Amino acid sequence: MRRPLVAGNWKMNGSRESIEALLDGIKSGLGRVTAIEVVVGAPAIYLSDLQCQLQGTAVAWSGQDLSAEAPGAYTGEIAASMLLDFGCKYVIVGHSERRAYHGESDQLVAKKYAAARAAGLVPILCIGETLEEREQGITEKVVARQLNAVIELEGIAALADGVVAYEPVWAIGTGKTATPEQAQDVHAFIRGIVADKDAVVADGLRILYGGSMKPDNAIELIAKQDIDGGLIGGASLKAEDFLAICSAAN
Ligand code: 13P
Repeated sequence: MRRPLVAGNWKMNGSRESIEALLDGIKSGLGRVTAIEVVVGAPAIYLSDLQCQLQGTAVAWSGQDLSAEAPGAYTGEIAASMLLDFGCKYVIVGHSERRAYHGESDQLVAKKYAAARAAGLVPILCIGETLEEREQGITEKVVARQLNAVIELEGIAALADGVVAYEPVWAIGTGKTATPEQAQDVHAFIRGIVADKDAVVADGLRILYGGSMKPDNAIELIAKQDIDGGLIGGASLKAEDFLAICSAAN
């Protein structure tokens, strides 16, 4: 049985003050949510605040990106070991905004996945097609390519240590959600790729949906067989909305 996971991705939002209030709201409302795992992903500079506020609670915290390299002369970058130093359990890799605005290739994302895993972090690998790619009918080809880059570099066992998030780019921050059927189709396809190589890994792999997930569509999405939770952007910035999604997953 896969334990559902609801992860917030705050992206480049928040201040020390707003984050403190948001975490207070999440912590105080989470009491009844015990069947799922809850994670929040903050800008790196706030991870020490998260560590102070979340240590000993049921909420884990996550980086939003990491360097593929070991510590050294890489100005501005953050190594896996540094995220661990601040108590992170998870790290997001290959978010579509990193791929689009920072030119991250499938190969670089796979190296980041490997670096996270080697350090003992749980990578959340984001994959998903653009609107143009969906309209061209190449959604499966794109997500397979993105997933296979990790499998080729690290082997199928690497997916036993990570999480996959299917985030159709056209649904991110647009208010346009994939229908539960559209999402389920791609999730089943992703699980199928893994199952072809290792049925046990496929069965245990948590595949999150991300893209305008909100309190009013979360239940239907997460009810689908291959949707094991969500990676939430906008709705994770309001404690009430985030908690409602957590309750839906619970
Ligand atoms: P939204 O929930 O704002 O669409 O963002 C999804 C996302 O990119 C999470 O990583």
